[in-house]
Amino acid sequence: MRQKMLNKFEELYGDGGDIRFYFAPGRVNLIGEHTDYNGGHVFPCALTLGTYAMVRKRDDRTLRFFSMNFEHREVVESSLDDLHFYKSAGWTNYPKGVLWAFNQKGHPIDAGLDILLFGNIPNGSGLSSSASVEVVVGVMLKDMFGFDVTMIDIALLGQYAENNFNGVNCGIMDQFSIAMGKANHAIFLDTSDLSYKYAPIALDDKKIVITSSNKRRGLGDSKYNERRNECETALKELQTVLNISSLGELTEESFESAKEVIKSPVCVRRARHAVYENQRTIKAVKALEENNIRLFGELMNESHRSLKEDYEVTGVELDTLVESAWNTEGVIGSRMTGAGFGGCTVSIVEESAVDHFIEKVGKEYREAIGYNADFYVVDIGEGAGVVSD
Ligand code: GLA
Repeated sequence: MRQKMLNKFEELYGDGGDIRFYFAPGRVNLIGEHTDYNGGHVFPCALTLGTYAMVRKRDDRTLRFFSMNFEHREVVESSLDDLHFYKSAGWTNYPKGVLWAFNQKGHPIDAGLDILLFGNIPNGSGLSSSASVEVVVGVMLKDMFGFDVTMIDIALLGQYAENNFNGVNCGIMDQFSIAMGKANHAIFLDTSDLSYKYAPIALDDKKIVITSSNKRRGLGDSKYNERRNECETALKELQTVLNISSLGELTEESFESAKEVIKSPVCVRRARHAVYENQRTIKAVKALEENNIRLFGELMNESHRSLKEDYEVTGVELDTLVESAWNTEGVIGSRMTGAGFGGCTVSIVEESAVDHFIEKVGKEYREAIGYNADFYVVDIGEGAGVVSD
């Protein structure tokens, strides 16, 4: 990868100088969906798929961007003096947003950059290709300019850029798991205070299979912000009778006994998902610690039902994939992962059943939806960093 990118880099930007190389993974969340902006728990892991970045400092204030994923496009030029969001700037708003966030937070970028990216995360799949770009740029800026920032700071700067530059009000899960991932481990993260622990994922004879619905998120971002607002409304109403600062502080019982104060039935369902999903995530991690993978799988299935019925973020494509998986032998658990409204499902499948799974779910999906799903049998990789030789 390095050599291929170096050839392209030199072709685009010329040779010589101090050219550096970085990587940030994508992520998949095993359980704990739409809990990260509700002060709840999540359980994501980093993938070995991700975004590579090659970069060199310039001696002026020009920024140049090129992605090998869009070979036919031109180099996009910008400037450190024009760090604004332009719809027409497309994907370059992600790296630009991170440069802007570093500036805003007291880490001034004082030299232009020639940047080349290449990603092998399926685009728009809900495996966090945008957070992967944000974190790879964060790691790059820390290294190139010697900023004294931790990996958690880089995750927060990425989230700050996504929220305030790109206008998506996401939580911290994606950037955190991408920055802090660890091979063969998932991260049990409490988003209320960012305390976390690594949980080994030793699946023995089972595999993690990601299935892309190939339905892009489309209107997802506005719906995402809408869900977030609905949870906030429910929280405000609950606060009239409960002394809480987030939905993540509630058990199922405390929620059930107070939910009458939430005025809209829709907001009751949104909050119910947030509360139950958080408790489910805690139970799932405990099940895994006790080596009870069957229970872990059942909790994944329940998570999907809740995301479908209470949170309403699944849609026919994801439901078709998950229901087909549930009816396939050798499947321990299956659910949508990420924001929803398209994107991917994650399934835990007996290794011996993976080929059959891909064939059967693939066929049922094609018949029901009219186009193909894509399957990825994935490994859990390391978080972002400098790529050494
Ligand atoms: C997106 C957001 C995350 C999280 C998930 C849903 O991936 O970026 O912060 O809210 O959706 O769990």
